Amino acid sequence: MPSAVPQPVAAKLTRAAIFLAVTIKPDPDYDAVVRSLCSDLAGLVRAVGFRDLEGRLSCVMGIGSDAWDRLFGAPRPKDLHPFREIHGVHHAVATPGDLLFHIRAVPMDLCFELATQIMTRLGDAVASSDEVHGFKYFDERDLLGFVDGTENPEDQAASDATIIGDEDAAFAGGSYVIVQKYLHDMKKWNELPVEMQEKIIGRTKLSDIELDDAVKPSYAHNALTTIVENGEELDIVRDNMPFGNISKGEFGTYFIGYAKSPHRIEQMLENMFVGRPPGNYDRLLDFSHAVTGTLFFIPSATFLEDAASEAPAPSPAAPSLDDEDQTDAVPTPKMPPSDGSLGIGSLKGDAGHE
Ligand code: HEM
Repeated sequence: MPSAVPQPVAAKLTRAAIFLAVTIKPDPDYDAVVRSLCSDLAGLVRAVGFRDLEGRLSCVMGIGSDAWDRLFGAPRPKDLHPFREIHGVHHAVATPGDLLFHIRAVPMDLCFELATQIMTRLGDAVASSDEVHGFKYFDERDLLGFVDGTENPEDQAASDATIIGDEDAAFAGGSYVIVQKYLHDMKKWNELPVEMQEKIIGRTKLSDIELDDAVKPSYAHNALTTIVENGEELDIVRDNMPFGNISKGEFGTYFIGYAKSPHRIEQMLENMFVGRPPGNYDRLLDFSHAVTGTLFFIPSATFLEDAASEAPAPSPAAPSLDDEDQTDAVPTPKMPPSDGSLGIGSLKGDAGHE
């Protein structure tokens, strides 16, 4: 049986990205518009990406928990739930988002064109909840001045960390993502001596070398985000991007973390916001605060391509399509795709879906 082709979650890091989170408006007709876009997304990426093959355009599409029920019903990915707010020493907010588009390319024009094509296709069906245009900043640094991404797993290790296998066989080839938009207090951060900043991050600033355990505090960012279970380190793939608006005094990091299970990202967040042990929190949060927080499931590319035919069957008791309350109805469970192949078709070997 052919296995599902994942979306390019572990694509190589690029110089530009657009992060687009939207909500689907409450009209069931709009669900069909979204499902149809899911099916055509790979084609759009091919069409835009072909204009500059060196530009390595890719797009990962995520679906939020409520949107999943609306668009596809049962079965649902076993770990899919809305982002859980955290009230610790600092606050991790939960914000709306039914669909996420993580668009990456070497040049921004490719990202911009694809985002425009996607939004044109979605038209009135969606309202934007957040749009961030990210850029790489000097040698892979965040705006705090530290190299960000060094310890990311690569190649096979990146796939192992992010792509669902037998643990949720119906959704093999899928993944999860958590996004958070952080704003930095640059003035306060820049007042800190560099040695203190290095202790907070856990690496040296200029040379990006990990601090020795003898001097690295237990609250260092890279200590609290290292999770070990049964002797094995649980990795995630990050593709954080700086963004900003100078005249508004906005300097930020868009955090995006992919994993085969959201639990490991949630554990890292717990360690950062509450502390490990509680109270021993991530001092980075004294200088950076999260203004968004959303969790999405990333279905396989194969599932997406088949999505136009994946509408939940109408329930006999379902109200008429004119009824605005219709969207609150629990969709009738649908059967998994019958042949198990999920219609791999043209996605196989597609450069946009490595
Ligand atoms: C303001 C937001 C953030 C900034 C500026 C930031 C920055 C950094 C930097 C500079 C590093 C060290 C270099 C590297 O290995 O990449 C790092 C490591 C890391 N960060 Fe973050 N980060 C942020 C938020 C997060 C969040 C929310 C998570 C997880 C929920 C996270 C997870 C990690 C992980 C897993 C590592 C690697 C740890 C290791 O194995 O050494 N980061 N981050």
